[in-house]
Amino acid sequence: MSEKKITVRQEGKEDKVLDAPEGAVFLQLLKRNGYPLVCCSGKGTCGRCRIRFGQKGAPLPAPADRIAFTPEELRGGLRLACMHRVRQDCCLQVEFVESRPVEAVTAHKGATGNINGRGQEECPVTDRPVPYLIAVDLGTTTIAMQAVELPSVKEWQQGGELLIRGEYSCMNPQREWGSDVLSRIQAAAQGQAGALTESVREGIAEGIGRLVRERGRAPACIWLAGNTAMEHLLMGLDTAALGRYPFTPVSLEEMELKLLTGGTQLRIGLLPGISAFVGADIAAGLLACGLGKGTEEGCRLFIDLGTNGEMAIAGKGRLLCTAAAAGPAFEGGAAANVPGTDMLALLAEMLDQGIIDETGLLEDAYFEHGWQKGRIRITQQDIRALQMAKAAVCAGVELLMEALGAQEDDVDQVCLAGGFGYYLDVEKAARIGLFPAGLAGKVTAVGNTSLLGACLYGGDPSLREITQALCRRAEVLNLAEQPGFEARYLSRIHFKKETKNDEISDY
Ligand code: FES
Repeated sequence: MSEKKITVRQEGKEDKVLDAPEGAVFLQLLKRNGYPLVCCSGKGTCGRCRIRFGQKGAPLPAPADRIAFTPEELRGGLRLACMHRVRQDCCLQVEFVESRPVEAVTAHKGATGNINGRGQEECPVTDRPVPYLIAVDLGTTTIAMQAVELPSVKEWQQGGELLIRGEYSCMNPQREWGSDVLSRIQAAAQGQAGALTESVREGIAEGIGRLVRERGRAPACIWLAGNTAMEHLLMGLDTAALGRYPFTPVSLEEMELKLLTGGTQLRIGLLPGISAFVGADIAAGLLACGLGKGTEEGCRLFIDLGTNGEMAIAGKGRLLCTAAAAGPAFEGGAAANVPGTDMLALLAEMLDQGIIDETGLLEDAYFEHGWQKGRIRITQQDIRALQMAKAAVCAGVELLMEALGAQEDDVDQVCLAGGFGYYLDVEKAARIGLFPAGLAGKVTAVGNTSLLGACLYGGDPSLREITQALCRRAEVLNLAEQPGFEARYLSRIHFKKETKNDEISDY
């Protein structure tokens, strides 16, 4: 195999000449040589790995290029770096599209009716400093942390204020290996497990170090909640069995990690999880929302929308959970640089204006190159991704209700957790059929319940046994194995039609 010379240009950087083996994929070659990119890891779906070939050097467009670029852009030499291999010496310009900085939501709301006061004021100086804990939400996309005064955790449960003395958030550094859980499990299986573990530990140590420096003293304890794969990668546990049937975690128990930061060894407690796909972040969310203790009256739903849509229903003394693969649609990955919530609002608008029909099909005029609004272009592929995600969530919610024997009328509240839920326009979400129409008026956005749950778990030892019992009691439904799931999922792919009296009916 011969070597080729690739001259690489990027604005703001010096030109580089790379020696590349013939047949190497441009994306991998560039990533290895100091051009990082958070992307779909070469699936051809995110459109972020843009490179522009110099005169006459551009290979023939691949089908994914034709979806990602207009004919004019293709003529200008733009291609997706993940779709092409080195064949000859060439010159190219790197025009990677950086992902929109995702804001980690640290806010959480009192889902149980208690007031969630956020005391940002310093307390009056006292002789003895008040002990504090650090709560960490380890998300697939972002990491969020809060330093919270320990005594206020119990007071908050009695209706007092939760006194938050510091906050920190950053992107999960593992995004370099792919934006979703599966890409990271695959990367771990390909020999990257150590690097994945190290990178996230560094990210967490950096955040904790910052909070500790701000407080000027060590926390009383640190507690972390993350989905099962994130907790496994953090602990350095084998994730291979999480990525294949029957999806078996190494551990769902509470765990402990010792981390060296600034010369000090800190102990981080990890919350227990429920299953491979319903992790400690969801257990924390259920705790924060007061669901699943087995003693509550009525019936409540919990939905956390991220790359996986995890859902739970509590009522009649039972707690049922499930997870639906939602893909990147809710996290702004469907259309490059469009936040999921905006995408959803745009879709509702397109539906109302007749730019797409109820099957999600773009009008002929936009079919080939998508519909443009400002700098955002939405293609048929983006619409399909969101349709599949919302159908999976809606069908999942319906099956959970059915398994519990609950009707829409029986549901008292829907707690919508996560950053996506926090910014969601509930009416628009109902318009596109993200959840059954009858539930739209019952939705409460509860913010980052994983963070709040970690804080409660760490700050009130009496809640630990409750959470562990909740994890044991939870019945996990595998959607793919539920009779009727596929038919229901397919029937929910279409959007809903506004009827004359403005009610929304199933189409
Ligand atoms: S990495 Fe090429 S399209 Fe996503």
